[in-house]
Amino acid sequence: MHLIIVQNPEEISQLVSKTISSLVVKKPNAVLGLATGSSPIGTYNLLIKDYQNNKTDWSKVVTFNLDEYVGLDAHDPTSYHYFMNHHLFNHININKENIHIPSGIGNITENIKNYENLLENFGPVDLQLLGIGENGHIGFNEPGSTMDSKTRVVNLTASTITANKHFFDHESQVPTQAITMGIATILKANTIVLIASGSKKAPAIKALIHGKVDAQWPCSYLQNHENVIIIIDQEAAKLLEQPKTERKN
Ligand code: F6R
Repeated sequence: MHLIIVQNPEEISQLVSKTISSLVVKKPNAVLGLATGSSPIGTYNLLIKDYQNNKTDWSKVVTFNLDEYVGLDAHDPTSYHYFMNHHLFNHININKENIHIPSGIGNITENIKNYENLLENFGPVDLQLLGIGENGHIGFNEPGSTMDSKTRVVNLTASTITANKHFFDHESQVPTQAITMGIATILKANTIVLIASGSKKAPAIKALIHGKVDAQWPCSYLQNHENVIIIIDQEAAKLLEQPKTERKN
């Protein structure tokens, strides 16, 4: 695992957006695995700026999102479909047919099967962007998830529901289930870039880097992948034993 500790979330966004835009320039038909949540918003903002300023061409890029809430359709402002359109896809020249996000409505069993098949057909994902939950989840693979897990429906933990309530009017509106790519699905990506900022993420980052591989900290499964880049700020790094600081300016 390659650890990069930067000063603040803005530096994380700069580094990750440069990594993604360089990949898209180098490989115009790149397959990207994308995340939602607060962590990647700054990165997506900078990718939009890059598109506007440098005309980076997204027309052949293929994307797969990690997860979606069960029961929310694409028009629901709290769905991850809506999030991705609002924060990235509506502002770049991506071909809408190349966007893949698990559907949380309709025949869920069928949706899940189709999603894994699509990933199989288009994959491997060149670069998978991940955030991390305070409880160490990646995607919505909550504690207890197994290393061989595939795309499936999961029950969200109370901690995840509380952490995500700020996207909703009230905590009671946060769906209790989601569809998520599994751990095995995520680990198939060629490169994984995990980002985290703030002290609330520090215990999960400690488990990811110093812990043993443990289903109670699903992030620790990333130790089994050969090409993981962890980009975090100093707050998220504060429980690390011997932070290896590599400054990028
Ligand atoms: C989102 C996802 C989640 C988030 C995680 C962190 O697609 O898969 O694992 O990355 O919950 O969320 P934020 O960034 O809001 O702290």
